[in-house]
This record gives sequence, structure tokens and C-alpha cells, in this order.
Amino acid sequence: MKHYAHINDLENLETTVQEAIGLKKNELKFESLGKGKTICLLFFNNSLRTRLSTQKAAQNLGLNTIVMNFGSEGWQLEYEDGVIMNQNKSEHIKEAAKVVAQYCDIVAIRAFASLTDKEKDEAEIVINSFKELSGIPVVNLESSCGHPLQALADAITMKENAARHKPKVVLSWAPHPKALPHAVANSFIDMMHLQDADFIITHPEGYDLNPEIVKDAKVEYDQEKAFKDADYIYVKNWSSYQNYGQVIPQEKNWTITADKMAKTNNAKFMHCLPVRRNVVVADEVIDSENSLVIEQANNRTYSAQIVLKKILENLG
Ligand code: CP
Repeated sequence: MKHYAHINDLENLETTVQEAIGLKKNELKFESLGKGKTICLLFFNNSLRTRLSTQKAAQNLGLNTIVMNFGSEGWQLEYEDGVIMNQNKSEHIKEAAKVVAQYCDIVAIRAFASLTDKEKDEAEIVINSFKELSGIPVVNLESSCGHPLQALADAITMKENAARHKPKVVLSWAPHPKALPHAVANSFIDMMHLQDADFIITHPEGYDLNPEIVKDAKVEYDQEKAFKDADYIYVKNWSSYQNYGQVIPQEKNWTITADKMAKTNNAKFMHCLPVRRNVVVADEVIDSENSLVIEQANNRTYSAQIVLKKILENLG
């Protein structure tokens, strides 16, 4: 594997999940693999889990790590060709990507959606520019439209907690005071397309996700109906895709409560974190024994580690 920008960059999800579970049992087994090599982690946006788990994963493989808060500490980058750069952008991606590549062997990037320009967001301009110009492997730490390391961690968590073959998995929208991107939901759907499961997406009308990602997945606008007999409730807020980046007020309350979880088949509760308690999910649900949120966060290390291992093996 050269880059990890999308879950489909994995040759096989099922075997990768099994390999990650194996790695978790002996996380220092490949501690010499990255010796003498360096990974740069560039954050254009905030993070807790992604930053710490990817650093830990890299260190478990013996990689040197350099972390930069590019969004707050780097020069503002210009991505357009032929621009007269007499405004606020100080450096062109053409130089920046090549300069970064001189300091490291792998670059990992977090760059969220603007939520103001759908076309630009869908062009994945930051990740794709680094892929095109840096000449080194690029890892997606959450881009405009995807969070594939989170989706891989979620697949690992679901495998570890699997109670039955072909589980019913529900991706549920939940409220949030701010307009959030579609990346986590998109990658979760991409990942579920690779699973043998009864998969349903539930959200209020007006929150339909990109049809090119949803494809033939079932969509149910009645949340309680969707929850019936579910084995996993995966919760995430996202802003409107049609009215791009807008928050549309809802009549019904979509917060995940114990009453709603009672309709399920004793479902596990999942969320990528960070989460707003008693807005997205009631305390009683996230604090229950069915909540997998801390396991999900732990598995971020092993999802990053298996991806970096595959990239390092390809580097030779
Ligand atoms: N789930 C996740 O990506 O967490 P952070 O935003 O804290 O990295």
C-alpha cells in the first residue's frame, strides 16, 4: 500500500482487521520496522485521539515522529495555479509539499472540510495536493470527506464485540449545536459497504448524505423504527449535504436515550468522540456497559499502526 486516503486503499478489510487485532496483542513486535525513518503529522485542525494514537502507533513501529499544528503555526498555503500571491497566503503548496517531503518518509495530514464550498471540499485539495506533489506516502488523518483511520478502528471494535453473524448496524444522526462535516459518516458507510451486515442509515429528512457514498444502503427517516433489533448503534452528527454545511432545525429529538436503546437487541453504542453529552447522547447511554467509545479510541492506535506497517513494508 502506498497511500492511505480511503478505506478502499486497504487490499482487504477483513484480513487487515484480523492483523490489527493480532498486532494489539504484541504491539512492539515490529518495533524495528520504522528504524531510521520519520513520519510528519500535519494538523490543519484540532485533535486529541488522532494526534496521540497516530504518534503512539508510529513510535510502536520505531518511527521518528514530527508533529506540526500547521493550521495555527504554519504559513497559509495557496493551492491554485497561476495566482498572484499578493493577499494573505504566504506559501504555495508546490514548494510546501516538496519541502515537507525532504524531512520525512511518510506524511499524515488532518484537513477538515470548509463546509462552504462543496466542490472544493470534494476535490480533497490538501490530501490530493500532497499525494501529487510530495512523492511520499500520504495518510489521511481526517480530510474533507473521509476519516478512514476512524472507520478502520470502528471495524476492529465491531469485530472484537461481534455477538452474531450478519449483525444489524445502524448509523444514526444526532443533534449538535454546530455544523459538522460528513467525513466520519462517509467513511463509516464506505466501511460498512465492505461488511456482511444489515446496515441502515437513519437521519431526519434534509440530512441525506452524498448519494455516491450511500449507494444502495437503506435509509430510514424514522429513528425508532431503524433502531428495532439493532446490534450496533453508531452515532454521529453531520450538517446538511444538500444545503451544504447548514444546520436544519428539527421537530423531533434525535438525542440517543436509554428509551431508544431499549428498542434494540441490547445494542452496543458507538461514537468516534469527541461527543457532547446530553446533546448527542444521554449520560445513561454513554456511561452504560454497552458503550464502546473508549474501546474505539483505543483501537485508533492499532488502526494507525497496521496502516503504517503496510506503508513501511511497501517502502522497503
Ligand atoms: N475521533 C477523532 O478523530 O478524534 P480527534 O478529533 O480527537 O482526533
